[in-house]
Amino acid sequence: MHIHKFERFWIGLSFVLIAGFIATVVIGFTTFDLKVIGKNKTIDPTKLAETTFAKPGVRKVERNGNTEYDVYVVARQFLFQPGTGNPITIPANERITFHITSPDVIHGFEVVGTNLNTMVIPGEIAKFTTIFPEPKTYGILCNEYCGAAHHAMEGKIEVVPKSQFNESMLVQ
Ligand code: CUA
Repeated sequence: MHIHKFERFWIGLSFVLIAGFIATVVIGFTTFDLKVIGKNKTIDPTKLAETTFAKPGVRKVERNGNTEYDVYVVARQFLFQPGTGNPITIPANERITFHITSPDVIHGFEVVGTNLNTMVIPGEIAKFTTIFPEPKTYGILCNEYCGAAHHAMEGKIEVVPKSQFNESMLVQ
């Protein structure tokens, strides 16, 4: 069977592309610390009221003998609870683990100016841990189209000095 040299060229190129696509995924997960969110963590989006998400906000936790903070956020059309209106107030230089879910449609949770960026899928809990090294105000954006007011869905994170952070900023 004779294969024209142009055809052979394109067949070869398609294999190179496929190898490139696979490499992109592999390098993303190994080198750039990409993670699949919500792995094995599911939740009934119609029953958030029966979970910790009923009282979203900042919680202080003891983990492995250290004080850390858990932040529960509900992303819904078209706001972050907390985050929109009242900022998410957290201390600088502490381990902060975000838990984010949605009762309605897919949203995004992007902390502007950082590499913190996750999809928020109904039925799943997006979770990531980070440390904000210094006091600063950050914007939160929804970067998944979620309906008519998607463009207005935004919030704030207020990172305050450890000395200014107090119990009144926790979920009561
Ligand atoms: Cu929520 Cu776009």
